[in-house]
Amino acid sequence: MTSQPIPLALVVLAAGKGTRMKSDTHKVLHPIAGRPMLDHLLASAAQLDPARQVVVAGHGRAQLEQALGGRATIAVQDPQLGTGHAVQQAESALADFVGDVLILYGDVPFVRPETMRAMIARLHEQDAPAVVVLGFEPDDALQYGRVLATDGRITKMVEYKDATDAERACRLCNSGLMAVKAAELFQLLARVGNDNAQGEYYLTDIVNIAHADGRVCAVVVTDDEHEVAGINSRAELAQAEGRWQDRRRAQAMADGASLIAPETVWFSWDTVIGRDVTVEPNVYFGPGVTIADDVKIHAFSHLEGAKVASKADIGPYARLRPGADIREKAKVGNFVEIKKSVLGVGAKANHLSYIGDAEVGAGANLGAGTITCNYDGYFKYKTVIGERAFIGSNSALIAPVRIGADAIVAAGSAVSRDVADGELRLVRAEQLIKPGWADRFHDAMKKKKAEKQG
Ligand code: UD1
Ligand code: CA
Repeated sequence: MTSQPIPLALVVLAAGKGTRMKSDTHKVLHPIAGRPMLDHLLASAAQLDPARQVVVAGHGRAQLEQALGGRATIAVQDPQLGTGHAVQQAESALADFVGDVLILYGDVPFVRPETMRAMIARLHEQDAPAVVVLGFEPDDALQYGRVLATDGRITKMVEYKDATDAERACRLCNSGLMAVKAAELFQLLARVGNDNAQGEYYLTDIVNIAHADGRVCAVVVTDDEHEVAGINSRAELAQAEGRWQDRRRAQAMADGASLIAPETVWFSWDTVIGRDVTVEPNVYFGPGVTIADDVKIHAFSHLEGAKVASKADIGPYARLRPGADIREKAKVGNFVEIKKSVLGVGAKANHLSYIGDAEVGAGANLGAGTITCNYDGYFKYKTVIGERAFIGSNSALIAPVRIGADAIVAAGSAVSRDVADGELRLVRAEQLIKPGWADRFHDAMKKKKAEKQG
């Protein structure tokens, strides 16, 4: 290895039709753990600090352009004439680039950074390979292209459809990923033809051309066939999701969280979860959730874009939506929905509530069925509840409204005007008391019924 880092360019192939997904969404934009597969790939590759990123797009390129938002140069491939032709489309984007090129597939999102590094490192070993191919040895070699090699040096690359029976018997398969020096890549590609079983310009042919020139071409073999698994269908998408979740659950437990039934807990790519957190069965973490240490999340809770501080207690059946900010020792009970609101230190919303666009002070208690009425059909308004305020059950707080510290709102109140600190607010009709009325009513009615039947 050299000490001076050599610049790296990524070329990500994503021009294929993705027919088997049967989707209007571009295949590489389908999410795994709440994040588009392309972003998983770019995030891993980012660990190699690439100087350039080119995404080769064909079908659905407008979607890709929007999703990338300038993070990569888009090279258009139209029509799609094969993987070699696809990489060729990156030539003008890399015209002035000097360095290494790593060719990735947008639908092979979980290649590990260390594997990418191993490919680049191999490119700079003493025997100076013209091309480094990432190979793998699956249990079932299916119709993958085959890599015929001796001691890690390739003698031939052949597509399944072009292969002889003897070649098909070879178990070393082509993942499709390659590392090549930019200067050599486009010269080799210019020599690739399409005289083969599929009439395509095969990227794999650059290996055969370089080999014929007397150059070394090397294969780096991964022992993890899942990292090179392509995602071509919804079923494969679900399998990739499942594997991702398994790894994340194991990581959460290794980091000190207790998952009582790990296989039922769903994480997102960016979930942050602390130590001594207990997660009961069937909990879903959407994107943007941070859980501090020492938190309990009871069964069937759904969290997204929420922050939960230490010693808080969530659920069962709680729903924390984006902007929920649950402070230390606060309690969110069953069938409580919280959106864009702070629940102060030790505050409680234990049963059947909607809290939206609110600031709830420390130690406040929101009774069962408390609702913040934050929306009038046009605009959203804020509710502010002071420290230690007590909101009686089944109260409607009609925003914008402010409830003072230590105030009490009587059960069943619909509060539309501010309540001062320490005030009692009771918004309901005076009670009518009629002793004995019910007894007289029942007597009269029973008599009437008896007369009718008689
Ligand atoms: C390719 C390899 C094969 C390897 C397999 C691994 C070649 C000739 N074959 O097969 O050896 O075992 O991958 O999955 O390279 N793409 C484009 N433009 C095109 C064609 C493909 O961008 O014109 C992209 C696709 O979007 C996809 C990737 O290239 O991301 C691979 O294409 P796919 O058709 O799945 O692979 P094969 O050519 O069948
Ligand atoms: Ca494929």
